[in-house]
Amino acid sequence: MVIRPVKVAGLSTFVPPHVLTNDDLEKLVETSNEWILQRTGIKERHIVDPGMATSDIAEPAARAAIAEAGLTPADIGFIVVGTTTPDTVFPSTACVLQAKIGATKAWGFDLGAACSGFTYSLTVGWKMVASGAVDHALVIGADVMSSIIDYTDRSTCVLFGDGAGAVVLSVAAPDEPCLIDFLHEIDGHGGPSLCMPAGGSRRPASHETVDQRQHYVKQDGAAVFKFAVKKSGEIAQRLLERHGLTGADLDLFVSHQANRRIIEATAERIGLAPEKVIINLERFGNTTAGTIPLALADARTDGRLKRGDLVLLTSVGAGFTVGSVLLRWSL
Ligand code: ACO
Repeated sequence: MVIRPVKVAGLSTFVPPHVLTNDDLEKLVETSNEWILQRTGIKERHIVDPGMATSDIAEPAARAAIAEAGLTPADIGFIVVGTTTPDTVFPSTACVLQAKIGATKAWGFDLGAACSGFTYSLTVGWKMVASGAVDHALVIGADVMSSIIDYTDRSTCVLFGDGAGAVVLSVAAPDEPCLIDFLHEIDGHGGPSLCMPAGGSRRPASHETVDQRQHYVKQDGAAVFKFAVKKSGEIAQRLLERHGLTGADLDLFVSHQANRRIIEATAERIGLAPEKVIINLERFGNTTAGTIPLALADARTDGRLKRGDLVLLTSVGAGFTVGSVLLRWSL
């Protein structure tokens, strides 16, 4: 098997236009702008209009990322969609998206890793290109979290938003910046702390499951918070140490955007200066698999992410899943 260097050749994102602010949420549940801001850092999030699904927000991001890579959809050999909110259980959102964009030569699948959906999908797409199986991979992180959020539950509805990101991965020339390494873990004992209890084979949809509101996100916020703070810092440190690096060597740290306090605790643990840490959750909330590409895109727009930069991505999500990817930015 050949091992080829792989680079990010295109990046784009999409969020639906409708904005749900903290003030709007004050009208739905007993909460306040002050509480949400202080506990999470979130000010507003984007929410799809009824009838809009994950493939609908992934499509514009995918098309723009492919165009930036100087390719057409027919050049894509593989599609992986990191998502917790597929359009349907089957067919996969990868299949729906393949047909929508006309990626006639691609195969692919959905990847379920919750908030680690992007870091895991990036790794899978990377290895597909590195192995020589395909020349160009389309990696999507996209979620319509509003489809599984209970807007009568104040402990979860303030946290999430809808959003999508896409990157195209291609073979890098020997002197080009490329993906370097990854380190992922899962800990299935954390499952009950963050889950959607019904709708799968364990508890198929029934009048009872709907009446009991079991098709929504249920979360033990404190347990998830504790695990995320511990694991996010730990995985970042281990991946850096494997390369003889410290936080001081990084140009940028892009964490999954769930809670400002989790990101700041991780940054502190690896000794990162605040200007190297991207936080944009105030505008988007937690878009699950969408957060990291949305943060990368913002960092690029404001000039904090440049070609050649050493970048560390980390994520912690339901499962529990833990992810980290080290790369040199190539756009
Ligand atoms: N508005 C006002 N009060 C609220 C709200 C709200 N929206 N939600 C909860 N409260 C109340 C609680 O009922 C509780 O009241 P009580 O003391 O009378 O019982 C009080 O606020 C404190 O609740 P805590 O859960 O202790 O608040 P905490 O400081 O832990 O913050 C939060 C809660 C924001 C959910 C935090 O635990 C968190 O961010 N956890 C991580 C969850 C997460 O981001 N999950 C996403 C997916 S996984 C991942 O991405 C890492």
